[in-house]
Amino acid sequence: MRILFVADVFGAPGRRALERHLRELRHELGADFCIANGENVADGMGLTAKLAEKLLAAGVDVITLGNHTWRRREVMEALEQGDRVIRPANLGGPGMPGRGLTVVGGVAVLNLQGALFLEVAFHPFVVVDALVAEARRATPVVIVDFHAEATSEKVALARMLDGRVTAVIGTHTHVQTADARVLPGGTAAITDAGMTGPHDSVIGVRADLAIERMRTGMPVRFHPADGDVRIEGALVECGADGRATRCETVRVAVR
Ligand SMILES: [Fe+2]
Ligand SMILES: [Fe+2]
Repeated sequence: MRILFVADVFGAPGRRALERHLRELRHELGADFCIANGENVADGMGLTAKLAEKLLAAGVDVITLGNHTWRRREVMEALEQGDRVIRPANLGGPGMPGRGLTVVGGVAVLNLQGALFLEVAFHPFVVVDALVAEARRATPVVIVDFHAEATSEKVALARMLDGRVTAVIGTHTHVQTADARVLPGGTAAITDAGMTGPHDSVIGVRADLAIERMRTGMPVRFHPADGDVRIEGALVECGADGRATRCETVRVAVR
């Protein structure tokens, strides 16, 4: 089985790139399943139910989220209805909308957020074992989107889960790392899958605006950039036992 993971989809440029090219890319890569991180789809921050529908219609099977989950109220509907949109499992306590684990078409997708430099309600390393066990009761194919800032934390979680899940895919930094690999126990891993969106930018945002905010420390309204749009992510191949046999980066320029 081949699973395409599409890295953080940023703004309208990222979404349109998927609407125009995802079907063809899935076909070219022979991808049987597609997961996309959608935390930046709504103008760079958050997701709405409407935009989630568009990604699903473009060929995404499951959408994951991250630290921008609650930016748009219109995400609630998508989180509460259906099983295609999930948010980091450790983001909030009981009673909060949505969940962090879903099983669709024989693939379990688990979304977690890092504790280093990001806010979480529960430490990911503490809650992950029970969630992985729950996922494995449903299927041996388990893909983890670990939305985290620090490379160390992402590498550590991948090593901790080696042999228990099919893949640990890092997201959030929007910068693709060159370490796609299969770990000794059979878990595919990459520290960060990158960004699907405008790369002529500062991680998706118009460079002049990002620089201005950093230079002055003043609030500056961010807008998505539009140049050098790429689809980035990772392709994972695994057997029926869920063990990964291949892990490669995906980086496609879109025009
Ligand atoms: Fe992001
Ligand atoms: Fe993020």
